[in-house]
Amino acid sequence: MHGNELLDVIFRWAHLIAGIMWVGNSMLFNWLDRNLEKKLRGQDLSRLSQGKIFMVHSGAFYDVEKKLLEPGEMPDTMHWFKWQNGITWLTGIALLVVVYYMNGAAFLVDPRVADIDPKVAIALSATALLTAWIVYDGMWRLWGESNPRKATIASIVLLFGSVFAFAQVFSGRGAYIQVGVLMGTLMTGNVWMCIVPSQRELIAATTSGRDQDPTLSIRAKQRSIHNNYMTFPLLFVMLSNHFGGATSHHLNWLILILVMIGGAGIRHFMNIRYRGEGKQLPTFAWLAPAIASAAIAVAGLMVVSRIEAKPRVRVDYEVKWARAQEIIGARCVRCHSAHPADDVYRSPPNNVMFDTPQQIETMAARIKVRAVDLETMPLNNQTQMTDVERAELDAWLRAGAPIK
Ligand code: HEC
Repeated sequence: MHGNELLDVIFRWAHLIAGIMWVGNSMLFNWLDRNLEKKLRGQDLSRLSQGKIFMVHSGAFYDVEKKLLEPGEMPDTMHWFKWQNGITWLTGIALLVVVYYMNGAAFLVDPRVADIDPKVAIALSATALLTAWIVYDGMWRLWGESNPRKATIASIVLLFGSVFAFAQVFSGRGAYIQVGVLMGTLMTGNVWMCIVPSQRELIAATTSGRDQDPTLSIRAKQRSIHNNYMTFPLLFVMLSNHFGGATSHHLNWLILILVMIGGAGIRHFMNIRYRGEGKQLPTFAWLAPAIASAAIAVAGLMVVSRIEAKPRVRVDYEVKWARAQEIIGARCVRCHSAHPADDVYRSPPNNVMFDTPQQIETMAARIKVRAVDLETMPLNNQTQMTDVERAELDAWLRAGAPIK
C-alpha cells in the first residue's frame, strides 16, 4: 500500500478514533447535565452547586458535582476536552483533500451532474466551507442571540438550501461529503470560537472573583445545542458513501434532507427523555416520537430512493456471454484489470478485476448493483457506457450471467 491509499487509511483511522472520542464525550456530558440531582438525600446542595450525580463504573463509584468555584478553589489542573474535536476536524479536512480533491477530483466532480473543471470544483468546495461559517456565525452573533427562533429557521433553510445547491454541482457522494464537512466545520467553529472562549472567560472571572460575562455563556450554550442536533445527521453523512442508492439518486438532496430531519428528531427525543433528578418521560412519550423521526429518515431512504428519473431501457432479445464480455471489456477493464490502462487508477480499484470470465462471474451481483441499478459504474461514466449497454448487461444477468 502506498501514496494516496496509505494517506487515506491513516487519516480515516485517526478520524474515526477522534470522532468516537469527541461524540462519546459530548454524549456523556449531555447525559450528565440532564441527570443531575439538585438535592442530596433531601438536603439542598451548596450555593454554587448545579447538581450532583453518582455513577458506578470500572470498579468504584464516581461522585460528580457540577458547580461554579470560589476564586481560591481553582485547581492546578483543568481538563478541557477540545482536542477530540480539533483532531476530528483536522483529519476530516485531510481526508477531504486526499479522497475528494486529489486524483483530479474524480470523486467530487461528475460530468453527468455538472461538467465543471476539477480546480473550479475544489475552489467552490473550499470557499463554501469558509462562507458557511462566516454567514452562520455572523447571523447568530448579530441577531440570533436575541431572535433565536428566527435564526434557527433561517439556519435550517440555509443548510437545506446548501444541500440542494451542492447536489447540483458536485457528484452525489461528493455533495453528501461536502454537507458533512460543512456541518463538521460549523461544529468545530462553535467549539473553538464560542465554547472554548466562554470557558476561558469563566476561568478568568472565577480567578478574579467577578461575575462571568453572560453573553459568552449564552452564546456557548446556544452553539452547543446546535452541535448536539447536528451530530446524528453528520454521522449519517460519514457513512453515506457506502450507499450509492442514496448518494447517486437524482433526488439525493431530498433523501439527505429527510435523513437529516429524522436524525435530528431522534436526537431531540433522546435529549428530552431525561427530566433531571433521575426522572424520565414515560417511555411512549419519547420513544414513539423518536421512532416516528426514524420513520421520516427511512422514508427518505426507502420511498424517495425508489422514484425513477426516467423509464428504464429494456431489451427483449437474448444477450449472450460474448456480448456481455465485449461490453465489460470496452467499459470496465480500463480500470478493473491487473494492469489498468487508466491514467489515474494504476492498480485495480477495490481489487476488482474483470480480466477472466471467472472474475466476472464472481462479481456478477455487484456488476448488477453498480452498472445496472445505481449506474455508479463506470466511475462518472468515464468510458461512456450507453443505456442500451446497461440494459444488455441486465438481460445477460437476468439470464443467470452465463460465462459460456
Ligand atoms: C475510470 C475507472 C473505472 C471504470 C471505467 C470502472 N470502474 Fe468500477 N471502480 C472504480 C473505482 C475508483 C472504484 C472504487 C470506488 C467505488 O466503489 O466507487 C470502483 C469500484 C467498483 C466495484 C467494487 C465496489 C462494489 O460496489 O462492489 C465494482 C463491482 C465495480 N467498480 C464495477 C465496475 C463495472 C461493472 C464497470 C464497467 C461497467 C466499472 N466498474 C468501470 C473505477 C472504475
